[in-house]
Amino acid sequence: MKFSEYESLDLSHKIILITGANAGLGYEAALFFASRNATVIAGVRSMQRGEQAKSKILEIVPNASIHFLECDLSNSKSIDAFASVVKESFPPIDILLNNAGIMAVPYALTKDNFESQFGVNHLGHFRLTALLYSHLNDHARIINVSSMAHMQATIDLNDPHYTSRSYQSFKAYAQSKLANLLFTHELNKRMKNDSHQLLALSAHPGVAMTSLFDKVETASWMRFIKPIFGLFAASAKQGSYPLIVACLDPNALPDMFYGPKSGKKNEVTTNIKMKSLAHDASLQKGLWDLSNQQCSLKFLED
Ligand SMILES: NC(=O)c1ccc[n+]([C@@H]2O[C@H](COP(=O)([O-])OP(=O)(O)OC[C@H]3O[C@@H](n4cnc5c(N)ncnc54)[C@H](OP(=O)(O)O)[C@@H]3O)[C@@H](O)[C@H]2O)c1
Repeated sequence: MKFSEYESLDLSHKIILITGANAGLGYEAALFFASRNATVIAGVRSMQRGEQAKSKILEIVPNASIHFLECDLSNSKSIDAFASVVKESFPPIDILLNNAGIMAVPYALTKDNFESQFGVNHLGHFRLTALLYSHLNDHARIINVSSMAHMQATIDLNDPHYTSRSYQSFKAYAQSKLANLLFTHELNKRMKNDSHQLLALSAHPGVAMTSLFDKVETASWMRFIKPIFGLFAASAKQGSYPLIVACLDPNALPDMFYGPKSGKKNEVTTNIKMKSLAHDASLQKGLWDLSNQQCSLKFLED
């Protein structure tokens, strides 16, 4: 799929919610959707950075319908408040792009005492999706942004927060990105029993030059190799293409995994290999139950 096929669409009827929309891929996706006349709800953890992103977008698209609101995925209270405002202030959502993320950061706990990567990258989005589920359009789609780093992952449902095993920042990132895929699959299964025709999909950007790499545990080392990365990595804009195509592909089917086509930065494919663990039905169910329990929710329970 060539990204250029999507560049002239009129999306004035679409309402899209993007997490982590002030920077990197989320910002590029927000800019794209705003420029195609969609209404964009932009969730950000810092309203100051949100306002800066909004100014940049309005300079490029002066009549953009873009609304920045606080949504800190490391804090359930912030997620709950955000979901309430969205439900009160906007019509039902067509596309939920669960994009925000942190990578390979030093060990930390969220406000809810979750290991921060599992907490922000997976549980925060699980909670947000659950809270907004009743406010999705009948044909809405949910896109979870994963990573090929999931290939390195195992997931320990008995100790997702590394309380009794040693923490390795990249392994914890990989675990959270495997969780994104498991979540997508289980969500599709559970939505099948619903009367709506909702669709959950996954996407990954390949390697894209964003600030994701600036916050890793080995940041000083990363700063050294970032220029080398730049030689082969995609730009943030190119990295957003698989996410945007997953949001809009008219031929999308449940569980499709969108990513860049090998060697073609402007093309997107769904022919992306997933680790077999991502297809493990008992792990999918186990993660779902754990996520409900951790978030004190009963989202699409058995
Ligand atoms: N770039 C890549 O090569 C790559 C590869 C594979 C997968 N990904 C995935 O792509 C997604 C986007 O990453 P990116 O490359 O665009 O990184 P980025 O430039 O660092 O952007 C990440 C976004 O997430 C936000 N965020 C972080 N913690 C948050 C929290 N607690 N609550 C709400 N928002 C939070 C950031 O906000 P602040 O600006 O306030 O920090 C920022 O807006 C992530 O899920 C990442 O795992 C990226």
